[in-house]
Amino acid sequence: MENTRVVLASRPKGWVTEDNFRIERVPVAPPREGEVLVKNLWLSLDPYMRGRMSDAKSYVKGVDIGEVMVGQTVGEVLESKNTGFKPGDKVLTQLGWQLFGVARDVVKLKDLQVPLSYYLGILGMPGMTAFFGLKEIGQPKEGETLVVSAASGAVGSVVGQLGKLSGCRVVGIAGGPEKCGYVVKELGFDACVDYKAGRLYEDLKAACPKGVDVSFENVGGEILDTLLRLMNVGARIVVCGLISEYNAAEPYGYRNMRAVLVNRIRMQGMIVFDWKERYGEALKALAGYLAQGKLKYRESVVEGIENSPKGLIALLKGGNFGKQLVRLA
Ligand SMILES: NC(=O)c1ccc[n+]([C@@H]2O[C@H](COP(=O)([O-])OP(=O)(O)OC[C@H]3O[C@@H](n4cnc5c(N)ncnc54)[C@H](OP(=O)(O)O)[C@@H]3O)[C@@H](O)[C@H]2O)c1
Repeated sequence: MENTRVVLASRPKGWVTEDNFRIERVPVAPPREGEVLVKNLWLSLDPYMRGRMSDAKSYVKGVDIGEVMVGQTVGEVLESKNTGFKPGDKVLTQLGWQLFGVARDVVKLKDLQVPLSYYLGILGMPGMTAFFGLKEIGQPKEGETLVVSAASGAVGSVVGQLGKLSGCRVVGIAGGPEKCGYVVKELGFDACVDYKAGRLYEDLKAACPKGVDVSFENVGGEILDTLLRLMNVGARIVVCGLISEYNAAEPYGYRNMRAVLVNRIRMQGMIVFDWKERYGEALKALAGYLAQGKLKYRESVVEGIENSPKGLIALLKGGNFGKQLVRLA
């Protein structure tokens, strides 16, 4: 059997290009004792992958040149040398950008009431990020104003809907009228500001007449700097992601940090796997809301492993509309 895999060919300088990847075809290795052979069905594409293509120091080591690109997949066990798994089991893996792989640290997906791809999105890492980032760091209270950037995306869409369930006024920020329309009409946010319209401060001020109590920051740069001018005393900023800076040659120069001091703002970074012991709690809550029709969810699908590089490049430029996935089978 032949495996198709995508490896890191070179490190990007600025924007990622297709030349940074190489597609390889190699034989599939058989599983050894304790391992399973998995056929990947879905690959998740996520903004953190841009960081892993770099060799700069981060919270996790980057991908080496020639190594398979990192990523979560859901797949099916084809062959098992591990007593905990049998052929046909559906599993969550870290096998990365490839059609087949051998692993020992996969997680069996049980009680499948939703499409398998949801375990890479709303019931997977992005859903956990939204749940713990908002609940534990944002700590929204009824009647407060919550602003969420990248609002139509995998994390942002869940954050905003959870914010509504907590009784907040929820304002999204997204690129373009189509995404903003979806955020308000489909996801039920109270308002959405199109940051590409060129009136960011004025539009945010109008959408947040009582100021901002919680900012769930997925974008950083000008959006975060502008929000700082609107934050209330005692506000919280959840620094979840800074996607506007991932491809930038220079870090953004923040001008409004004085607001943090004057308004006693708590600004805290988060990395989702700090809550890995509690993923079950989030899974139960999010699956429950989904089953009750209280959470809406959207996916953006690229077809075929060969198109994974195009998918990641599009995601980093806002070409996705909802959770970005690659259908592998
Ligand atoms: N800390 C953690 O543990 C953790 C875990 C998961 C994700 N994250 C972070 O959460 C953020 C969202 O991730 P996701 O997986 O949910 O991705 P996503 O929101 O589904 O997709 C990324 C979105 O970012 C927006 N974007 C890209 N460049 C932008 C720019 N220059 N200015 C404004 N918006 C821009 C685009 O939306 P528009 O079309 O609206 O611009 C794009 O659709 C990312 O920053 C990611 O790194 C962090």
